[in-house]
Amino acid sequence: MAEAGFNKEKAQRFLQQLMKDVAASFHSAMTYIGDRLGIFKAMAAAGAVTVEDLARRTGLQERYLREWLGSMVAAQYINYDPKSATYTLPPEHVAPLADEDSPVFLASMFAGLLPHLIVAPKVAEAFRTGGGVAQSEYPQELFAAMERMTAPMYKHYLVQQWLPALPEVVSKLRGGGAALDVGCGSGLAAIKIAEAFPQARVFGFDRHVGSIERARANARAAGLGENRIRFDVADCTQLPHSTFDFITTFEVVHDAVDPQALVASIRNALRPGGTYMMAEVNASARVEDNISPMGRMLYSASTLYCMTTSLAEGGAGLGAAMGEVKARELAANAGFGHFRRLPIEHPFAALYELRG
Ligand SMILES: C[S@@+](CC[C@H](N)C(=O)[O-])C[C@H]1O[C@@H](n2cnc3c(N)ncnc32)[C@H](O)[C@@H]1O
Repeated sequence: MAEAGFNKEKAQRFLQQLMKDVAASFHSAMTYIGDRLGIFKAMAAAGAVTVEDLARRTGLQERYLREWLGSMVAAQYINYDPKSATYTLPPEHVAPLADEDSPVFLASMFAGLLPHLIVAPKVAEAFRTGGGVAQSEYPQELFAAMERMTAPMYKHYLVQQWLPALPEVVSKLRGGGAALDVGCGSGLAAIKIAEAFPQARVFGFDRHVGSIERARANARAAGLGENRIRFDVADCTQLPHSTFDFITTFEVVHDAVDPQALVASIRNALRPGGTYMMAEVNASARVEDNISPMGRMLYSASTLYCMTTSLAEGGAGLGAAMGEVKARELAANAGFGHFRRLPIEHPFAALYELRG
């Protein structure tokens, strides 16, 4: 029965949209498998392949590959030529799916999906009871995935585009200054800074033990000794006074249990004339500004991790969409006299310079 204000076409369009979303959700598991098992990389190297070829090249079961390829052809990630029964990863799809070094590599996002979904039943319980899910309850796989998800930003933008927007910082680091990455995770940003500024002393602190272990291993793999970079487990709301010329946070403040104490501790830890660069999610605090795929992803990730790990400890639970207004408020309350959004466009990151 048609109700007043009920638009049949709109209902039809919404059903189609929902069906597309259901299909994409199931298919995301296939992309996860393709990334995990190196199938996209094998296809990028191979050009056109039959299922049998692909099975030989990857050492994987032919029957599984045939089904997987079906899903990829249906999703138009991979092309199929029925005449030759061959499958091809189009050249335009290689960078996002198979090239770990590309700035547009996205397949790692699917590695991050599963460890978020695993905790969804616990998050649902928190909707009922309050509280949250503690960081220690997430599988280690999440932190490995986070490293891969954020790596393209640090490899391609941090030293090449972001730091040059802060010329005073660059000259201090060239002159042997001290830099600290707060909430460094697996350390990639700090490692990039240490590599670019051999005279600087670089530190990375995180309260998550597993991440610091990964960061130390990454520094060793990069050939950086403790004279160049040092990673420690630390709660950064208690940083030492007047110690660093440059402090960074990358996607940390919105996750923090006590973001105000964190920003105040960072100000206290800067030497006179020092700079804090806060990198936060490039999103508005107004839900009506976030009606986009990015908004959809970030509210979901926030519910599944960022807000929820903070609430688990009775924290502020700011969430990933805290926006510039909240960043300004935290800076002002901590006593920073200068706040500027750097004129840098990045789909995921908004960068703020805090001084004084
Ligand atoms: C979303 S992760 C980002 C990790 C890393 N900056 C990156 O970009 O890959 C946020 C990190 O902040 C850390 N963190 C949050 N609050 C902290 C605090 N008070 N002291 C130290 N680390 C903190 C968490 O343990 C987590 O590793």
